[in-house]
Amino acid sequence: MVCRNTAFIRVLTGALIVFAVLSAMVPAQAQQRGARVNYILRCSGCHGMDGTGHEQGGIPAFPGYVGSIIDDDEGRTYLMHVPGVVATGLNDREIAEVMNYVASQWGGNPAFDRFTEEEVRVRRATAVADVVEFRRILARRLLSAGKPLAPYPWP
Ligand code: HEC
Repeated sequence: MVCRNTAFIRVLTGALIVFAVLSAMVPAQAQQRGARVNYILRCSGCHGMDGTGHEQGGIPAFPGYVGSIIDDDEGRTYLMHVPGVVATGLNDREIAEVMNYVASQWGGNPAFDRFTEEEVRVRRATAVADVVEFRRILARRLLSAGKPLAPYPWP
C-alpha cells in the first residue's frame, strides 16, 4: 500500500511539473500570436508579409538590415518614431511585442535585446523632431561602422 502511494505521488508530481511547464509556455505563445496578428493588420500593408517593403516607395526592407538598427541604442529610439509606430493605435506593450516579432523574424540575431513596455514608453517620450533626418544621421554612422542598412530613396 505504502509502495502504491509512493508511485501515485510520483506520477502526480510528474503531472504537476508537466502542467506547470505547459502553462508557462502558453503566455509566450499567445504573445507571439498576438504580435503576428498586429503585424499583419497594422504593418504588412506597407512592409509586406515578408518584410521586404518597397524601396521606391520609401519603405525600407527588414531582412538582412533591421538587425543593425535593433542592436543600436539610438536605432532603438528611431524605431519608436517610425510612421507605423507613431500612427498606430497599439499601446506600449503591444508595440514592444510587434517590434520583438519584427526582430525575431528578420533581425538575424536570435539573442537580440527584447523590447519591454517600459523601454517603449521611455523611448516614445524622447522627442524626435524629424524622423527622416534622424534616420539619415543614424544611417551615416551605422554604414560607416560597416553595419548593413536598407537602401532608402530619400536624399
Ligand atoms: C503607412 C505605411 C507604414 C506602416 C503601416 C508601417 N510602417 Fe514602418 N515604416 C514606414 C516608412 C515610410 C518607414 C521609413 C521611416 C523613415 O522615413 O525614416 C518605416 C520604417 C520602419 C522601420 C525601420 C526600418 C529602417 O530601415 O529604417 C521599422 C522597424 C518599421 N517601420 C516597423 C513597423 C511596424 C512594426 C509597423 C506596424 C506597427 C509599421 N512599421 C507600420 C511605413 C510604414
